[in-house]
Amino acid sequence: MSRALVGVSCLSHDAALAAVTEDGIQFAAHAERYSRRKNDPLLHQALIEDAARYWGHPGELAFYERPWLKRSRQLYAGQYRRALVDPRPAAYLRGFEPLRDLPIFYVDHHLSHAAGGYFTSPFREAAVVVVDAIGEWDTITVWHGRDRVLRRIFSTRYPHSVGLFYSAFTHRAGLKPNEEEYIFMGMAAYGEPRYRALIENEIVQLGPPPQFRLRRPLHRGLRGWRQEIVDGPDIAASVQAITEAYLTSLLRWTAQTVGSRHLVYSGGVALNCSFNGLLAGMALFDDIWIMPNPGDAGSALGAALAQLREFVPWPGPYLGYDIDRPLDTSAVARTLATQGTAGLANGRAEYGPRALGNRSLLADPRGMAMKERVNAIKRRQRYRPFAPVVLREQAAELFNMPPVDAPYMQYVVPCRKPDEYPAICHVDGSSRVQTLTREQNPQLHAILVEFQKLTGCPMLLNTSLNIKGEPLVNTWDDALNFAALHNVPVF
Ligand SMILES: [Fe+2]
Repeated sequence: MSRALVGVSCLSHDAALAAVTEDGIQFAAHAERYSRRKNDPLLHQALIEDAARYWGHPGELAFYERPWLKRSRQLYAGQYRRALVDPRPAAYLRGFEPLRDLPIFYVDHHLSHAAGGYFTSPFREAAVVVVDAIGEWDTITVWHGRDRVLRRIFSTRYPHSVGLFYSAFTHRAGLKPNEEEYIFMGMAAYGEPRYRALIENEIVQLGPPPQFRLRRPLHRGLRGWRQEIVDGPDIAASVQAITEAYLTSLLRWTAQTVGSRHLVYSGGVALNCSFNGLLAGMALFDDIWIMPNPGDAGSALGAALAQLREFVPWPGPYLGYDIDRPLDTSAVARTLATQGTAGLANGRAEYGPRALGNRSLLADPRGMAMKERVNAIKRRQRYRPFAPVVLREQAAELFNMPPVDAPYMQYVVPCRKPDEYPAICHVDGSSRVQTLTREQNPQLHAILVEFQKLTGCPMLLNTSLNIKGEPLVNTWDDALNFAALHNVPVF
C-alpha cells in the first residue's frame, strides 16, 4: 500500500481524522464517537489506534486550517483569550505517538472544504461554493474546479459571515451555537418570517449578489439585541428566509459567472437541508454534490485531499469504526414488522452527522403513535420530525423528489402522504429523505425489501442510535448499553 496522507481537524469543535492513500479513502471518523463526548474538539487515542489499522504507513499530515492566520483574525476580532492559546497544533499532534514524526502541512480552511467536496465529487469540472461560519478569515468562497485545480474567483471575509449570522440567532433562541443550528432550522417551519425586514434593517445587508454584509460583528452573539422579541419560531423563520434569499442569489450568481453545469457545495451552511431542498428544485445546475460531511469535521478528509490533489472514488459514508459481526437482516425486518422498533449497529460507522443505516434506530413509519414512541426513546423536543429511508425506486411515489439523488439525508422535500406517515413528516409536510439502493448499503436494503414484503411499506423511520446527549453509538458495547437502557432490540 502507498503511504497514507493523514488529515486532521481538531482544537475547535468536533475533531476528526481521515486517512487517504492513492488507492482511495481508507478511514474517516469523528473523535466524539471514541471519547463519548459530543462534539469533542480533541483527538482521542482510540481513534488514532483505530485509524492505524487502516493507514498502513502514514507519510504526512494535513491540518485543516492555518493556525497563525486564524490567530491574526482572532486578535483583530478582540478574541484575545482565544488568541493567546498557542496556535501551533504541531506540539499537540506530536503528543500522539503514531503522528510524532510526520511532516505537517497546513491547508487553508476554505480550501479544505472546497477540496473535500471537489475531489470526492463525480465531476472533473464544477463550480465549488463554500459557506461556513469562520475559519481563518474567509467565510464565503466560490471556486472553479477544473483538471484537479481549484481556482478561487470570489471571497467574503470576516466579520461578514452567513454562518455566524445563523449561529448568533441559534444562540439567541436559547440553543447551542455551532451545534444546534439544525434544531433552529426545524423551528423555522413553526413560524412566520415576521422579523425579516427588521433583521435586514438592523443586522444584515444583502447587497447586489454575491455580496453579503453584516451591519454589526456577531462573533460574540447578538448581546441584548431586541430582547422584547421572544417568539423563537418567528425569528427562526425570518433568519431562515434571509439565509435562503442570500444563498439563492449567491448560487444564481455562481451559475452565471462560472458557467458550469455542476455544483459542489460545502461548508457548515451546506448542512441546511431545508435550503438544499430548494436549491435542488431550482435547476440552476444539472447535478449537485454535497459531501455527506460538509462541515469542519469533514475537512479532516478535505485537508488530506487538498494535499493529495487527486480525485478519489467516493466509497460511501461508512468509513469509521467497524462492528464486524454477522447480521440477520430478516430478523431485523421481522422485529420491525412485529415490535415497531429495532436498533441497527453493524459495519463501519458513518462519517458525518447523519445515521445512515449502520448506527441507526429504525422504526415502522406508519401512524402517529410511532412518533411518540421514538420520541420517548430519544427524549427530544416533541416538535422535531424524524427522517425516512425509502427504497429509491419507490421514493417518487411518496415524496416530491428533487432532480438530484438523495442518499445522505441532505434535502428536505414535500411528502405526498403526510397523513399516512406523520412520524417522518415535519409540521409543514416535508421530510428529509434518504433514498437507498442495494449498492449503497446492501444490509439496510435487504431489511427494507423484507419489511416491504411483510407490511407493504417501502420505507422506515431512520434516526440516530444514541443515548440522549451522547454521540452516535460506535462499538457493539455502546449498542448493548443503548439496548439495555431503552429496552429496544439491537442487531
Ligand atoms: Fe468551516
